[in-house]
Amino acid sequence: MTLSRRRFMLGTAAGLIAVTHLKSRAFAAALKSSGLKDLYRDDFLIGTVLSARSFPDKETTLLDLISREFNAVTAENAMKWEEIRPQLDSWQWDIADQMVDFATRHKMHMVGHTLVWHSQVPAQVFLDSSGQPLERDALLKIMKGHIETLVGRYKGRIATWDVVNEAIEDDGKWRQTSWFKGVGEDYIDHAFRFAHDVDPQAHLIYNDYNTFVPTKRDAIAAMAKKLKARGVPIHGLGMQGHIGIGRPDLTELEQTIEAFADAGMRVHITELDVDVLPSVWEMSAEIANRFEYKPEMDPYIDGFPQEMEEKLADRYEALFKIFLKHRDKIDRVTFWGTSDGASWLNGFPIPGRTNYPLLFNRQMDPKPAYNRLAALKLGK
Ligand code: G3I
Repeated sequence: MTLSRRRFMLGTAAGLIAVTHLKSRAFAAALKSSGLKDLYRDDFLIGTVLSARSFPDKETTLLDLISREFNAVTAENAMKWEEIRPQLDSWQWDIADQMVDFATRHKMHMVGHTLVWHSQVPAQVFLDSSGQPLERDALLKIMKGHIETLVGRYKGRIATWDVVNEAIEDDGKWRQTSWFKGVGEDYIDHAFRFAHDVDPQAHLIYNDYNTFVPTKRDAIAAMAKKLKARGVPIHGLGMQGHIGIGRPDLTELEQTIEAFADAGMRVHITELDVDVLPSVWEMSAEIANRFEYKPEMDPYIDGFPQEMEEKLADRYEALFKIFLKHRDKIDRVTFWGTSDGASWLNGFPIPGRTNYPLLFNRQMDPKPAYNRLAALKLGK
């Protein structure tokens, strides 16, 4: 733990001690000796992402913080097709290997992200030597080979795989991806079966964003039920959780947790962050969208006001009260980043903004939102 962090934490705790003596003493002691993962150990895993920038051992302060605060980690980009296999015959294992080694060393739940997605896949994957779209069987063979190699390499070391990512649109219809068009609707069945055949112990999930949209929620739940009825080895559903500070209504998110559990699925919150900047449209994490920079859309370049810190803390506290209420359904809550400075939301949907979506600030000190989540457990 950095000196500044310890001072910050003890300073916070000291402030608290003035308020309620016994509770704050417990708060201060607990914060000195454990992280969020320990406070929530009896509820669900607490995760974050690993970025290539941290390896090998380039960001030791961050990695130390991650190993202290979290017991689950997801490869943010390193296991995506374009990063790990930029050419069909060339695999780039180095960073992914180091991430899995880090997770193994710290006895963390490693999440592989993601086997079958429409984004970040080299176009050549879907084309034959003459540049024409591959026939169904040929494309399935490509998918099988990819999954067998990637899942096989980390068999027994990656506990959960995001097998299929973002296959359904907000209106509940199938996303017309190259996988869907090339193979057909059952490309999802095959992806899960290929992964399960290689590593029967791995927990296999479907992952998507905007899962609080009723039409999307219902379509995903219905798909999961159908897959299960066909004997497909799908074990859980990932709610990415890219939300805004004021949207969506959290009752929609709670309804999704319940609907996914009712479909017989374990629930994973897989990519949680809270966008605190002015929104250019209804919530989405559709990476394909982009908008130009305007100063009025980037109001906190000189710092994040205290009242906004408290608003963010309120939002996270409200979320975690729902998660704790449904702790029996939820296996994991993963934040899509640790420190604000590294968040994808500094560049999405408008490049070059200064966002504050996570629990740790740019100096990697815990924000009021962190302390609020800690207090939720310590206060009880
Ligand atoms: O690695 C290259 C680097 O060599 C190059 O210099 C740099 C500048 O072009 O780009 C780097 O790759 C970037 C990569 O992040 C690593 O930083 C890609 O351009 C950029 O597109 C990629 O963005 C990622 C995005 O997914 C698209 O893959 C974000 O970091 C990542 O947070 C985001 O995460 C997605 C989930 O995978 C799926 N759910 C939605 C979520 C947010 O879009």
